[in-house]
Amino acid sequence: MMKPILLPILAATAAATDLLLPLYQYPANNGGAWSPIEQAMTANPSLTFKVIINPNNGPGGPGQGIDDPQYAAGTKALASHPNAQLIGYVHTSTDWGATRCNVPWPSITADIKRWATWPARGVAIKGIFIDEAPVNTANDCVAYMRNLTTFLRTDPDVVRAFGTNKPIIVFNPGGVGALQPYYDLQPDLIVALETCFVVPARAGGGGTYDDQCSPAGGYERYDHDGVGSSLDNVVFPSVGRANAARTAVLVHGFHDFNGPAANMSATVGVLGQLIRGVVQRKIGATFFNTAGYHTFTDGPASIGAAASALRAANGA
Ligand SMILES: *[C@@H]1O[C@H](CO)[C@@H](O)[C@H](O)[C@H]1NC(C)=O
Ligand SMILES: *[C@@H]1O[C@H](CO)[C@@H](O)[C@H](O)[C@H]1NC(C)=O
Repeated sequence: MMKPILLPILAATAAATDLLLPLYQYPANNGGAWSPIEQAMTANPSLTFKVIINPNNGPGGPGQGIDDPQYAAGTKALASHPNAQLIGYVHTSTDWGATRCNVPWPSITADIKRWATWPARGVAIKGIFIDEAPVNTANDCVAYMRNLTTFLRTDPDVVRAFGTNKPIIVFNPGGVGALQPYYDLQPDLIVALETCFVVPARAGGGGTYDDQCSPAGGYERYDHDGVGSSLDNVVFPSVGRANAARTAVLVHGFHDFNGPAANMSATVGVLGQLIRGVVQRKIGATFFNTAGYHTFTDGPASIGAAASALRAANGA
């Protein structure tokens, strides 16, 4: 039997699965809207929350983001939690992802430089989340992403602002593809699957798919062949298990059940099983949300339920 004295050392060195939270909700009431997230941070101190801050498809222009007192208050409050790591959002596509890596270099680096102004104004930003990242090598994307990661690791203003030449770097291609050239750039994480249970809109959704995975969209119905099946059958055959620790999986439509014939419904119990399946496969980060990253209190996958299930799975 292991001596108890060793446990804290093991806990500190064992690779845990972090929570990667795309926080696409406005911090109304001077950040009060985000208090459920703060409560989850407090309730799960061993869990690292990587929180993607996104005022307006990026840091926001004048009057937005850090210039907006509500954003400043909300992000300051989040950043004050020792287990929070705030990451700024940028994106590479001018046409909502149809073409990747076509945001002009002066424009994407200006957004990163603007994120680099936040720490001096009281909000510790620790890295950058690059959305609409490439899934293949078209459009000179490998060079574009290499240039971006090099910029993040060497630009003097950015290094000074983030306090390190190793900022947290996350790519979000949103699906599998020819990703190995991007893993070779050694970002902290690549989101290789971003999907839902894929069912019709929730009641009251007004006919829109409020979790953004319409049944006609060809999305992977998350784990419809059993716990871990989306990783084993879709993600790993493409990205390789050796990349698991640098891989993130996001499920942003956890409601109803995962398909017409499914025997698995979205409940807190199933949430725990699916999250354990992610952790057992040594995935670097994950998040489950009921409907679309804009509200964090809706069950079954409220922020509290998702965070405590992930903390428990990491400890198991
Ligand atoms: C990457 O940077 C190199 C060196 O500055 C430059 O020549 C090249 O055009 C850049 N490529 C892309 C796709 O941004
Ligand atoms: C549903 O049941 C079938 C047959 O027992 C099983 O193979 C499958 O893994 C189950 N699906 C889920 C999502 O658990």
